[in-house]
Order: sequence, then structure tokens, then C-alpha cells
Amino acid sequence: MTDRYDVVVIGGGPGGYVAAIRAAQLGLRAACVDMRASLGGTCLNIGCIPSKALLQSSEKFADARHSLADHGVDLGEVRLDLARMMDRKDRVVTTLTRGVEFLFRKNKVDWLKGAGRLVAPGRVVLSAADNEAHEIEAGAIIIATGSESAPLPAIAVDERRILSSTGALALDHVPNRLAVIGGGYIGLELGSVWHRLGSQVTVIELLDRIVPTMDRELSGGLQRALTRQGIRFELGAKLAAVRESPDSLSLEIEGVERRILEAEAVLIAVGRRPYTQRLGLDAVGVACDAQGRIIVDDGFATNIPGIYAIGDVIRGAMLAHKAEEEGIAIAERLAGQKPFINYDAVPAVIYTSPEVASVGKTEEELKSAAIAYRIGKFPFTANPRARANGETEGFVKILAEVSTDRVLGVHIIGPDAGTLIAEAALAIEFGASAEDIARTPHAHPTLNEAVKEAALTVAGRAIHI
Ligand code: NAI
Repeated sequence: MTDRYDVVVIGGGPGGYVAAIRAAQLGLRAACVDMRASLGGTCLNIGCIPSKALLQSSEKFADARHSLADHGVDLGEVRLDLARMMDRKDRVVTTLTRGVEFLFRKNKVDWLKGAGRLVAPGRVVLSAADNEAHEIEAGAIIIATGSESAPLPAIAVDERRILSSTGALALDHVPNRLAVIGGGYIGLELGSVWHRLGSQVTVIELLDRIVPTMDRELSGGLQRALTRQGIRFELGAKLAAVRESPDSLSLEIEGVERRILEAEAVLIAVGRRPYTQRLGLDAVGVACDAQGRIIVDDGFATNIPGIYAIGDVIRGAMLAHKAEEEGIAIAERLAGQKPFINYDAVPAVIYTSPEVASVGKTEEELKSAAIAYRIGKFPFTANPRARANGETEGFVKILAEVSTDRVLGVHIIGPDAGTLIAEAALAIEFGASAEDIARTPHAHPTLNEAVKEAALTVAGRAIHI
């Protein structure tokens, strides 16, 4: 028997499940194919959500050990119950993945459990757990299969001692020494988790700075902050080989000179690559670029009529919220609407402590595009709420065009930067000027006032510095 849907989405992560729900809301008969035991993709199962649960728990542990006493809260000896921390993380994940199942039922989206493969335009084969292959007809197919950890040549991940992010989210003890290869989002977030829980963490980064895609001042600020916390960094270095002995790993690090770094575990976090294995792209002739990303036009259409792709499998930042926007946009397009995504307004956040958040253009990008800009910068040391909270590290930096005062980029390192950046994304989406932000009343005392003061600083009229 062949089922027929208006839209079949392959992949139930933030891009795919959102696309399926939005399509169903717009009256299309929608199904979502996913082979995982639970919906939500990498983000909910082995990415954003479990990592944020562990970041939150480990920060509470670190606060209890190091900073609550300063608030007059004396807990005595603080003990780690890692099993319970992991159990809580798993419960958070289960609640949220079940939430997606609930939303599917509510919106009448069918979850087709199994692996989906393209056999022709408009036809998907589902290999289900019962080993039976079912053929599904689809008016439109949306590929939203996401990404997977990029491997390092000749180094096999075992998720026990040689870890990808998946293994690093589920260790059953705190490794005494953890090496992290790659000073990007995953390396710094999960490196922070294990450092707070007691590991001695060394980050090995190939380039001359960590988080190389962020504004240079933010990567410098973050490296200094994490160094003060005790994380070690080796820049311009890479992992050449791993030698395993029963109780240690000897890592051959190639930098200015070759050296051996002993560690109990190593996390490989050198980027992610599109996940398109066994999807049948070749059979149907879907074109990909040199990096394995599916090539799409502005409307997410591939070269094959009726087949679309969104999220980590196409160009652009590998971020859950970027995939969600694309999921909504493609569903609306298929329903005849004309949605538009302003990619300049997509924020990026690293959930370390302090957090780092960016939206729009970096200073380096403006320089290379020869756009004249003004900088407004405001430190959290001068923000009363940050003082009261005892979290004064970092600053807000606003870049505005000289001729129009239009906000082109906002870069924040500091407490709750990931939440503060929403105001900046909105400003960019609305085409606001720095003066628009500066003249908007901000509640006192809040961290957001630092954003307002940075906007005032663009015109050289800050009050509090
Ligand atoms: P990444 O691209 O953020 O960072 C990888 C880092 O590894 C880069 O700094 C790169 O220069 C370095 N590198 C590459 N090859 C290397 C080598 N051989 N030796 C040493 N360093 C090397 O990738 P990451 O951290 O794996 O994360 C993957 C993606 O997942 C990110 O691009 C991000 O989009 C997403 N993500 C987002 C998060 C968030 O929104 N907070 C959290 C975690 C991941």
C-alpha cells in the first residue's frame, strides 16, 4: 500500500519537525520520517538541550563551590552526584522529545519511524524497524537530515575515551585530564562543563584564535575569561596521533613544536558535516557542493523538482534556530506564501560563562567590505544589575553605519548574553538605528541597560561611563 502526503519531511530535528508542523497548520497533509527512537534530532537528543542541561547543572556546582560564599550562602563541603546530574539531563531530554510527539499529534503530523531514502522525485522509501520497506508518495520532499561530527583522519571515536560530543554528554565519571580538540562551540561548552566538574581541560585549536567566526574582540575576551577559570589553550596546534594505554591516552600534538599531551579522555570537536548518508541523493541526482552540502536556491529548491532541503545539510550556519526559520519558510512557500529570512538577524550564542552572543556583521567583515562604522562599547562593570549579581565580566559592542546610524552588528560577552542578543536581533530585523535602541526605555536595573548604554556610546553620549 502506498501512502500519499502533500509534504514528506526527512529528519525530525528543529528544521524538520518545525517544517512538518507548519505545513500541517497550513492545511497540507504532512509526515515526518525519522529513524531515531525519539523526535527532536541532534538538538534535542544529543546536542543543544542535553548540553544546556549539563551547563546549567555544572554552573550551579561551580557556584556552590566558588561563589555562593561571597553571597553569604555557606554550604560547607559541596559534593558532586554525577549520576543524578546525568539523570536530570536525560529527563529534560525525554520531556522535550515527548513534547514534539505531542505537537505532532496535536497538528496531525504523522511520524513515520524509520530511515527515509529518495527513490525518485515524489517518492520516498521508508525502511522501518519491521524490516519492511514502505513506499510513500509526496507532493514535496524536504530533506532536513542535519549534520554529524566531522572526524579527524586516522582517529577513531569510541565514545569511551575518544569522544565526540555524544560521548562527552554521557560520561559516567569526571576524567582527571580532558583534552579538547577544536576551540569552537562544542569544545568550549563541553570543555566548560567538565572543567567545572573537576577535569583539567586543555583546548587544542588549529587557528590563531578560538571561535574564529566570531568578532575578534569576543574570541579574545572569551579566551581570557576561560583561561582565568583554569582552562588551558594551545593555539595553532592540532592532534596528529593518539596512542592508547590502559589508563591513559598519549596525544601527539603538532604545534610550534611536537609534544605529547597525556589525557584520560579526548573530545574531538573540529566541526560538523552534512548528514546525507544512504539518503539516495545520487540515485535521484540531487546536486551537492564540494563540502557535501545540498545546493539549494533562495527558495530551498534543489536541482530536482519537488525536492527541497533546509538546515545543516545546506549552506549557512549550523544552528538549530536557523534551521527552524528555514523549516517555517519552506512550509509557507509550499503553501503559496512568500516568506523571507533575514540571515543578518540570525544570532549565534556560545553558552559558556560568560556567555558570548553575536548578531549581524563582525568588525572584521565590515572592514573587509569597506563599510564605515562607529563603535559603541559598554562594560558590564558599569552596569548596576551586573554589579548586584556579581557578574561583571564582559561588554556590549554595537557597530553602526556612519552615514545612517543603522545597527549592522552587535557582539556581547557577559552575563546572559544569549538572552540580551534578542533585542539586537530585533533591531537588525527592523532596520533600527543605534539611536532607536538608545531612545527605547529600558527597565532599571537590568542587564539590558548595557545594550542601551552601548547604543548611547555610538553617539558618544553614554551616561554611566
Ligand atoms: P566549530 O566550527 O564551532 O569549531 C571547530 C573548531 O575546531 C574551529 O575553531 C576550528 O578552527 C577547529 N579545528 C578544525 N580542525 C582542527 C584540528 N584538526 N585541530 C584543532 N582544531 C581544529 O565546530 P564544533 O564546535 O564542532 O561545533 C559544530 C557546530 O555545531 C558549530 O558550527 C555550531 O554551529 C553548532 N553548535 C552550536 C552551538 C550553539 O549554538 N551554542 C553549540 C554547539 C554546537
